[in-house]
Amino acid sequence: MSLPYFEINGGPRLKGRVRVSGAKNAALPIMAASILCEGEVILHEVPDVADVKSLSELLIKLGVEVERRGDGTLRLVARDEMNCRAEYDIVRKMRASICVLGPLLAKRRQAQVSMPGGCAIGDRPVDIHLRAMRQLGADLELVSGDIVARAKRLRGREIFMGGPFGSTVLGTANAMMAACLAEGTTVLEMAACEPEVVDLANFLNRCGASITGHGTPRIVIEGVKELHGCEYTIIPDRIEAGTFMVAAAITNGEVTIENCRLDHLMAFVDRLTAIGVNVEKEPAGGVTVSSARHLEPVDVTTQPFPGFPTDLQAQIMALLCLADGNSIITEKIFPDRFLHVAELNRMGAHLRKEGPTVIVEGVKRLIGAPVMASDLRASAALVLAGLAARGTTRVNRIYHLDRGYARFDEKLRALGADIQRKEGDEVL
Ligand code: EPU
Repeated sequence: MSLPYFEINGGPRLKGRVRVSGAKNAALPIMAASILCEGEVILHEVPDVADVKSLSELLIKLGVEVERRGDGTLRLVARDEMNCRAEYDIVRKMRASICVLGPLLAKRRQAQVSMPGGCAIGDRPVDIHLRAMRQLGADLELVSGDIVARAKRLRGREIFMGGPFGSTVLGTANAMMAACLAEGTTVLEMAACEPEVVDLANFLNRCGASITGHGTPRIVIEGVKELHGCEYTIIPDRIEAGTFMVAAAITNGEVTIENCRLDHLMAFVDRLTAIGVNVEKEPAGGVTVSSARHLEPVDVTTQPFPGFPTDLQAQIMALLCLADGNSIITEKIFPDRFLHVAELNRMGAHLRKEGPTVIVEGVKRLIGAPVMASDLRASAALVLAGLAARGTTRVNRIYHLDRGYARFDEKLRALGADIQRKEGDEVL
């Protein structure tokens, strides 16, 4: 089967300016929230990525009119409330489809959403989402792999959102969206504090919801009768920004990143600075990242926001492969999210996995090789390694990368990278 892949000739130092797109993980739940709204929702800075296309297809099936304008603007209008089913075919492709559960239940009083399975980064249960829906008053059963949910009415409650790995981002989004139209007050304790949850709450408030405390572990939602549409701009993608920061650092380059919120990246920038990478905010608003040849080894532990994001773990691992000494990376959100380890080792890295931890023994250089992308962020890490490696790297299965990075290869080329998108049979 012919599939797209990247061919990268490592070496060029990246230089120039790059603009980060809107955040995929904020855009997806906000798009789903359009189900709750009467009237038109206009979203700006919606990234042009495959996951947004997949969710648009699902929303169209659910009776939402979705129109994309060329400039990153999406217009959504919920018209037809008949179909409330998100089928396996779409959920299998994109787990984030689960974020239609809360809006469907709240607005249409019923939902049938295929139960997401595991994925390359782990088991990824949705038990906390389901617990929250039940506590708000929904009846839930599992029928042939589908979550079938009904609710005559939803009632506000105090709901604990914690689980064995902390809170849940999309679970908090689902509970918050459902609670907007519930009767009375809902309090979400140990809610996720991620900027994408805050962005969703800000959007919902703009639509007439009454949410306070977002950005803290205690979110309070006063139910309202209905939500209207609004015009809203999605926050910049902190993970894309972080990925370009590593691209600058790993090539000893100097890159200015535009549309970048440093307050969303404090833990990441703290680690970059400890490695010896310079990160400077420009008076005009951009962030300039530059690096000398010497990289210090550091320890990294992923945590819920404001801790170090799991979605940048693979990328910083690629950078630490070239540090002068040993680093330790511990994954506290998805303990199995390490499929990139074996691929980086194919490029000459010295990585040893021990449970949820990887010991990174820095090497002098990486060497180009054919490698296989396993998930979105692992793909980005392999591209970053390829940019620094001696020789040619072929990154197969980049459809994973296209799910979450808009025109990644074009943006890298504009900074001077030698990266081409090609198509062909898989070679390993
Ligand atoms: N968890 C449970 N039960 C649940 C839900 C989650 O035990 O009901 C566990 C998970 O297994 C995990 C932890 O809680 O160990 C956190 O998972 P979370 O629910 O927060 O993840 P998510 O909401 O499914 C979002 C992002 C992910 C990102 C995580 C963590 C979207 C669309 N996805 O997923 O993004 O890694 O939060 O920050 O927002 C990516 O963009 O590459 C990506 C995977």
